[in-house]
Amino acid sequence: MALKFITAEEAATFVNHDDHVGFSGFTPAGCPKVVPVAIANRAMEEHAKGNPFQIGMFTGASTGDKLDGSLARANAIKFRTPYQSSKDLRALLNARGAQYFDMHLSELAQSLRYGFLGKVDVAIIEAADVTEDGEIIPTSGVGITPTICDMADRIIIELNKKHPKEIRGMHDIYQPADPPYRREIPVYTPSDRIGTPYVKVDPKKIVGVVLTDEPNEGGAFTPLDDVTMAIGRNVADFLVSEMRAGRLPEGFVPLQSGVGNVANAVLGCMGENKDIPAFNVYTEVIQDAVIALMKQGRVKFASGCSLSVSNEVIEDIYNNLDFFKDKILLRPQEISNNPEVARRLGLVAINTALEADIFGNINSTHVSGTRMMNGIGGSGDFTRSAMLSIFTTPSTAKDGKISAFVPMVSHMDHSEHSVKVIITEYGVADLRGKSPIQRARAIIDNCVHPDYKPLLNEYLEMDIKGHTPQNLKCCFAFHEELAASGDMRNTDWSKCK
Ligand code: COA
Repeated sequence: MALKFITAEEAATFVNHDDHVGFSGFTPAGCPKVVPVAIANRAMEEHAKGNPFQIGMFTGASTGDKLDGSLARANAIKFRTPYQSSKDLRALLNARGAQYFDMHLSELAQSLRYGFLGKVDVAIIEAADVTEDGEIIPTSGVGITPTICDMADRIIIELNKKHPKEIRGMHDIYQPADPPYRREIPVYTPSDRIGTPYVKVDPKKIVGVVLTDEPNEGGAFTPLDDVTMAIGRNVADFLVSEMRAGRLPEGFVPLQSGVGNVANAVLGCMGENKDIPAFNVYTEVIQDAVIALMKQGRVKFASGCSLSVSNEVIEDIYNNLDFFKDKILLRPQEISNNPEVARRLGLVAINTALEADIFGNINSTHVSGTRMMNGIGGSGDFTRSAMLSIFTTPSTAKDGKISAFVPMVSHMDHSEHSVKVIITEYGVADLRGKSPIQRARAIIDNCVHPDYKPLLNEYLEMDIKGHTPQNLKCCFAFHEELAASGDMRNTDWSKCK
């Protein structure tokens, strides 16, 4: 069947008010760029005429500004799931101008197939190639592409010439059967291929192909500073000590590493530490540091859901496909983040906390318990199932006015039962086999900033009875002080006791 080439504006006419729209990609990598902007323009035109125009959005994870930013600014979002990191979308959903529900990334595709989230009317997919018989080669991110293509009534392709057709072979597309027919997912090592190099769709559903050569909206990383470097070194030293103690195998286990600046620094430091052998990565986002380490022979293989790298690095990969093609595999997030596979492979999972409490519970998502930052992302997929789950965080935020460690987290994403180790620039709190009071001592002694140690020691010395010594009147005093004076260091326990 011949493909029909259309403009982005024509493509936008296939998306109607109230439609549920699925988007390809994962982080800005692999996301459509020109059709979302055309949909946002269409929404603004309809709004100007007094007509409603809002869509429900399913994405892989965060996207680029052309997708989330444009649609948020056009007030064109009825609901949105899962992870996001757009400034304008964050403002919109914190003002409840769009309904946002945060999900574990591994669960989204199956939740769609189970019918938990309604139908998918349209799938908008960025592709490096598409054939007349319906074989789609994704670009640098996969996300939920196979599932939304299966479920959608209409598929729009953004054929992006910035991504060479020759990346065919870098993807491994696989969807598990649904219960009661599901079997094990046969990934036994990070490089195992279990699916096809393309997404196969019914070509009759492709309503049009939009040609583009928009570059990825890959952001640059903040330069490493003393704090992120110290965290990275502490992680690397801790992992070496685990190997020496025989708790991590000599050949190491695959690594999962989260998003952001801290995660990128941790990876860099692990690569530099020659006591850690060359290792494999089984993760969701493959960041710049992984590619640098691959070139040095320090990372042997990386399985992920997207190449969330800067534009210089993606060009380097595309210019050297002979080197990279047999070292990188991009999978749907249902497989890259699969808890069954994470537990089988025995991952070391390293994610970043927004806030932790002294008993080991982690808040990854909500600033002061109310304002959504980004979302839980894949952190829950990995943290609960990994062999060793580590959380890293700088000990303070906002020039020391906020302590990353509080008596009780103001929102909980990962409970004390899943969190094994916490690491800051000051040191390592190993929480394994420790009771709540022992965990609190380990965290205060090893991880907390010196400005906050006396306050948190005083908290523990209030002599609260019970297994977990929480003072229910004072446990949010840090947060209340922040709201009142803008600095948690001013907390005075006598005010709440
Ligand atoms: N209260 C208020 N703000 C806080 C804070 C706290 N307790 N802790 C950190 N912040 C602020 C920082 O000041 C910074 O603000 P800025 O952007 O205005 O400078 C921002 O949060 C980001 O913090 P930063 O230290 O730069 O960390 P990061 O870029 O590594 O991001 C998370 C940290 C937690 C926001 C991020 O890792 C995340 O969204 N995690 C959840 C999802 C996840 O773990 N995914 C990985 C799975 S594979």
